[in-house]
Amino acid sequence: MVESRIKILPRTLIDQIAAGEVIVRPASVVKELIENSLDAGTSLVSVEVSEDTRDISVTDDGCGMTSEEASLSLERHATSKITSLDDLISVKTRGFRGEALASIAAVSHLSLTTRTPDAISATRVTMDGGEPAGAPETLGAPVGTTVCVQGLFYNTPARLKFMRAPSTELRRILQVVTQQALSYPAVAFSLVSKGRRLLEFPAKQTLKDRFRQVMGSSVEGMLLELEPGNLPITVHGYVAKPEAARKDRSGQYLFVNRRPVANRLLSTILTQAYSGVLMTGRHPVGAIFVFLEPDEVDVNVHPTKEEVRFRDERQVASIVHRVIAGALRKASLVPSTRLSEAPLAPASSLVRGRESLGIFSTPEQMVRDAFKGQSRGVVEQTDLGIATHRAATHAMPSPPPAHETPPRTHPVAEPEEMPEISEATIQPQTASDFWEYVRNAEPLGQIAGTYVVAACGGAMLLIDQHAAHERIMYERITGGAAQPAVQRLLLPITFDVDVSQVPDVGGLREPLASFGIELEHFGGQTFVINALPSDLAEMDAPALIRDLLETVDLSKGDSTSLPVREEIARCLACHSAIRAGQKLSREEMVRLIDDLKNTRLAFTCPHGRPTMILLTPEQLARQFKRIV
Ligand SMILES: Nc1ncnc2c1ncn2[C@@H]1O[C@H](COP(=O)(O)OP(=O)(O)OP(=O)(O)O)[C@@H](O)[C@H]1O
Ligand SMILES: [Mg+2]
Repeated sequence: MVESRIKILPRTLIDQIAAGEVIVRPASVVKELIENSLDAGTSLVSVEVSEDTRDISVTDDGCGMTSEEASLSLERHATSKITSLDDLISVKTRGFRGEALASIAAVSHLSLTTRTPDAISATRVTMDGGEPAGAPETLGAPVGTTVCVQGLFYNTPARLKFMRAPSTELRRILQVVTQQALSYPAVAFSLVSKGRRLLEFPAKQTLKDRFRQVMGSSVEGMLLELEPGNLPITVHGYVAKPEAARKDRSGQYLFVNRRPVANRLLSTILTQAYSGVLMTGRHPVGAIFVFLEPDEVDVNVHPTKEEVRFRDERQVASIVHRVIAGALRKASLVPSTRLSEAPLAPASSLVRGRESLGIFSTPEQMVRDAFKGQSRGVVEQTDLGIATHRAATHAMPSPPPAHETPPRTHPVAEPEEMPEISEATIQPQTASDFWEYVRNAEPLGQIAGTYVVAACGGAMLLIDQHAAHERIMYERITGGAAQPAVQRLLLPITFDVDVSQVPDVGGLREPLASFGIELEHFGGQTFVINALPSDLAEMDAPALIRDLLETVDLSKGDSTSLPVREEIARCLACHSAIRAGQKLSREEMVRLIDDLKNTRLAFTCPHGRPTMILLTPEQLARQFKRIV
């Protein structure tokens, strides 16, 4: 007889395959276990994770299970939450499939210890790769449930291979705990890893306090409460003023009927509600809760239940938009909302302006023009030896609005006959020619506290003080001693960050130390700066680190982001440089020009923006039609 090629798979293998849908990574375990605790009516959730994130335990003080239920809970399709399809339509609990515990058990060593309030002892059930490891035990334990998972994916090597670096997995776990914690502000949550308390949310917090704690001081005084109004769908929560917007969506927490969700529709509406008050590329921050009748939303569309589908998307979209836009309309009465956003934009208009003016040419442009045929994109040889292409979109600190409307000039018709002296002989063609040309530059003052105006011979030199000083600082920072002189702070600076950023700040510790910034994890979301480079001791270091967190992506390799050290050098330069709008004495202006002269790439700031514009005597004369 020919043996059939088709065979029924063994049950353990079926379970492992099914587990693959629900338990994708350590964070999935954390999510499922927390959701079970919340469904059990717990008042606290404590999560512990090992260094490699493959050992996880979650403890609650919820309703617990009897010894019978404990064994049953680990069976596939065992649930106390629904009994019929009708129940599924109005499900109010996080879980309903009865497969999470079985799935986790199938791919780990699991022990579940649980006790109901009226039982005198607790029960412990132990499983190995989905098979019972011995009989259930009776033991003493507090009321509630603890699930201990060890060696996650030990029996599914393919899945194990897909695990990312522990720091990445930990970041995802942080995200999960944060989302869940936001959805139940009255429940206490803690997350401990490697003996360190990474998260600690006290019980009975208000949503506002919890969201504030999640976001750190970056949203202090910026939260706007959503007013649900009398609408068929209830939307409440908080959004932050546009100033608190981020470069990614990491500050967005969305919930549907309290369930944390990733919903395209909702995040698109959130962005749309901010249109006109946010620069492109910035993303709003908020914790938004949408409540609607359970039968208006399908939660059973994704194995991990992170996605949901609305029955009437249009209605959801219009109400959510209305509520968020309403909160913003009220808030935009505060002038700082628009003013602080506006100056970020003109970086590109500066470039446009320069081109449309035609008469101005930056020294950098002049030097570059000497090498005709080269790319016109901003190609920058960084001082760490990495060539980078960058669009000139670096946000300026606070250039005056004058930028937006560059002075109009009438194009001067080129005379048929050139004057005896050709442009080539007047315009300095190389950096050393340029510095020779402006060697006696005499600063006359500042325009809008931003541009230094200097006269040199008959020429006019305009310097963007921030960009110029940034270049100077950048070269000082990257070109100095291998280990800069460090000043220990008498009063260490403490600051806190958004919970999801805790591992990133940890990752910045070493590279920052090589720049003379000594950073320590104080615990939870708080860090301490103990020392700064001696010559930058005045710097606002927490602001620097927050900026870095937005630009540096430690989870990505060097392929998509600049190497961390380079990014730190740029950020450090930007933070320690003279600001636009800062009044400078004559001596300071002279020093600025002198120091700029001693840099290697004087004509652009580390982000590729020009530092200077030169208007030669001939160009001036042409403008006034003294020569034609
Ligand atoms: N921490 C807990 N406290 C009390 N009971 C629990 C706990 N965890 C699980 N249970 C019980 O075990 C059952 C099975 O849990 P499991 O997570 O596998 O399924 P579920 O939550 O019902 O559905 P889903 O698979 O969608 O999560 C639950 O229905 C619940 O009765
Ligand atoms: Mg569950």
